[in-house]
Amino acid sequence: MSASSIGIVPRVTSLAGTVRVPGDKSISHRYAMFAAIADGETRLRGYAPGADCAATLACLEGLGVRVERGATISIEGRGLGGFRPSAGPLDAANSGTSMRLLSGLLAAHRFTTVIGGDESLSRRPMRRVIDPLTRMGAAIESVDGRPPLTIRGGDLHGITFSPDVPSAQVKSAVLLAGLHASGHTTVVEPAATRDHTERALHAFGVRVKVQDQTITVAGGQRLRAVDAMIPGDFSSAVFWLVLAAGTPGADLVIENVGLNPSRTGVLEVLRRAGAHIEVLGAPPSDGGGEPVGALRVRYDSPRSFEVAPREVPAMIDEIPALSALAAMQSGISMTVRGAAELRVKESDRIAKLAEGFRALGARVSEYPDGFTIGGGPLAGGSVDAAGDHRLAMAFAIAGSRAAGPVAVAGADAVAVSYPAFFDELERLARS
Ligand code: S3P
Repeated sequence: MSASSIGIVPRVTSLAGTVRVPGDKSISHRYAMFAAIADGETRLRGYAPGADCAATLACLEGLGVRVERGATISIEGRGLGGFRPSAGPLDAANSGTSMRLLSGLLAAHRFTTVIGGDESLSRRPMRRVIDPLTRMGAAIESVDGRPPLTIRGGDLHGITFSPDVPSAQVKSAVLLAGLHASGHTTVVEPAATRDHTERALHAFGVRVKVQDQTITVAGGQRLRAVDAMIPGDFSSAVFWLVLAAGTPGADLVIENVGLNPSRTGVLEVLRRAGAHIEVLGAPPSDGGGEPVGALRVRYDSPRSFEVAPREVPAMIDEIPALSALAAMQSGISMTVRGAAELRVKESDRIAKLAEGFRALGARVSEYPDGFTIGGGPLAGGSVDAAGDHRLAMAFAIAGSRAAGPVAVAGADAVAVSYPAFFDELERLARS
């Protein structure tokens, strides 16, 4: 990702109309991987257009999976345990989900695979998947707990695993390995995380037992190919919710968006922050096991807000967008604590967000596990996205309401999850 692409942020003075967001990144990764280990051909509509989900497809092709790209993605399943050794290292690019979930699958294949990624991914902690997968019977080498990983798959046996940090990626890696293992595999989560894996496995015909935060699968269950429609990405929609929540008079509808309750925790916080948000057409329709609906958001009466530690797991990816809401309005502040995981995302999101918003004129206090931000509206200036797609979008959203011009360096990072983000922002700015 070149740091040289500069995104000039248009100024937004009013906001109305309708938006559609790209397909959900988390769900796309899972449907592609589950299709690859299923029996038969899976057809996916609405597959996420970003670089992360393209990396998953490329890795699967490296493992002998036939993929046809188009408006519909077709994936020819190789069946449980059916991957072929790849000719060279797999490249997960910027995508933690690709690397961690694929590790769970590779742990069950009796050959050696090297999987690496870009500079950002190479800094991210992988012991959280190495430890349980090693306990199950795989041999994994790393660079001091970081990528690239060299995974020698083995005959796996089921385990009961209690991760230290709530992580849907870790839960998913262990459950995917568990599908190939003898006996039962159980993950006991310290806090509930997004449950797309459980829902998608069910859609592919796998029995998954879920009791509170304890999830169990029996090994040896085969997956059946599906025809599925991936809903719009709630995490992308949140940038538009925030822009509307911070633009006087705004009235915006976001169509076809995934509304899985394990992802939508931020709606409650946005309402506390003064936004008026309705789910249109209740109850939301259910697309392949995932609730889908439309959201209408209107500007109302902005207020300061806090995010409590217990709320963080259901909105971990939305915190950069929320920080933009506090940064773009006068007299408003946001505090979040219990969010130390932000430091090991695509960037150290606490440090980089503080640095970036200060450069644009906000006041930010940083804590080991969170921050307080306020002092808007922003003066404007130049800001570096630090190679992080969600920071690029957060800076652009807040910047579109700044007093002076804003330029985002490394704006092309948005290609990871929302390639058309700046085009859409331009369109809305003229609405
Ligand atoms: C994801 C889980 C979360 C999230 C990431 C996507 C997933 O990561 O931040 O963007 O698709 O499972 P963790 O599992 O590290 O919390």
